Amino acid sequence: MGRLDGKKALVTGASRGIGRAIALELASEGAAVAVNYQSSDAKAQAVVDEIVKLGGKAILAKANLAKREEARGMIQKVAEELGGLDILVNNAGITRDRSLRKMTDEQWEEVIATNLNSYFYCTSAAIPLMIEAGFGRIVNVSSMNGQTGAFGQANYSASKGGIIAFTKTAALELAKTNITVNTVSPGFTETDMFAEVPEKIQDSIKERIPMGRFARPEEIAKAVTFLAADGDYITGQQINVNGGAYM
Ligand SMILES: NC(=O)c1ccc[n+]([C@@H]2O[C@H](COP(=O)([O-])OP(=O)(O)OC[C@H]3O[C@@H](n4cnc5c(N)ncnc54)[C@H](OP(=O)(O)O)[C@@H]3O)[C@@H](O)[C@H]2O)c1
Repeated sequence: MGRLDGKKALVTGASRGIGRAIALELASEGAAVAVNYQSSDAKAQAVVDEIVKLGGKAILAKANLAKREEARGMIQKVAEELGGLDILVNNAGITRDRSLRKMTDEQWEEVIATNLNSYFYCTSAAIPLMIEAGFGRIVNVSSMNGQTGAFGQANYSASKGGIIAFTKTAALELAKTNITVNTVSPGFTETDMFAEVPEKIQDSIKERIPMGRFARPEEIAKAVTFLAADGDYITGQQINVNGGAYM
């Protein structure tokens, strides 16, 4: 018996990387999982197929979450298809790195819309469903760089710091409704996003990680699943999964 048997979950940005690992981990604990993504049809389908092959239930949920109508429409559709929504993992994110002096309005706005606005759109659409059901677990994936700042990431670090503050307010407002809201903040994790960082910079980053290696997506997924499955009295918290890189 899984720790999430009977639960219905949505993971945003689940076609690849950390979101994919979270979808697989939630499914392995018995949750039915909606796999959101923006454009990687084949990769998202592969995640669904993998879950089904392992005996789980999964559906596709394609939507560009930077667009409010698409995000809110997707939440309604997923809840209809799965028969409710117990767990929302806001994870979709992008980078558009540029030093502050060179950053364009478009780079700023695209990152804030995708990484921060989408979390608001999905959460605000999910809340009424969760309140009616008397249960909800919301986990927001932020980043170590939302706490430390990072060169070339004024847009990204602002979005990620915003997620941490958003989480605390949502947790406060929803505490009496049996909906918990928490943040998991990964450090440097082996995904397509991190692969964009030049190898030389990756090496210098690794030297600064006390555990001496990057995270695997599955290690982030375990923290998210813990909050969804066993975090009944944990809300408004921020869990760092970063190998000790920021304490
Ligand atoms: N990797 C790291 O080192 C690291 C560190 C700290 C925090 N994080 C955070 O962890 C989360 C996942 O990162 P990752 O490394 O797994 O990223 P990734 O491998 O680049 O995957 C990004 C995912 O987000 C989806 N996505 C992007 N824009 C979207 C949009 N507008 N609407 C819907 N989905 C969208 C992508 O869908 P498509 O495949 O369709 O494009 C993909 O599934 C992000 O929030 C990131 O900021 C990552």
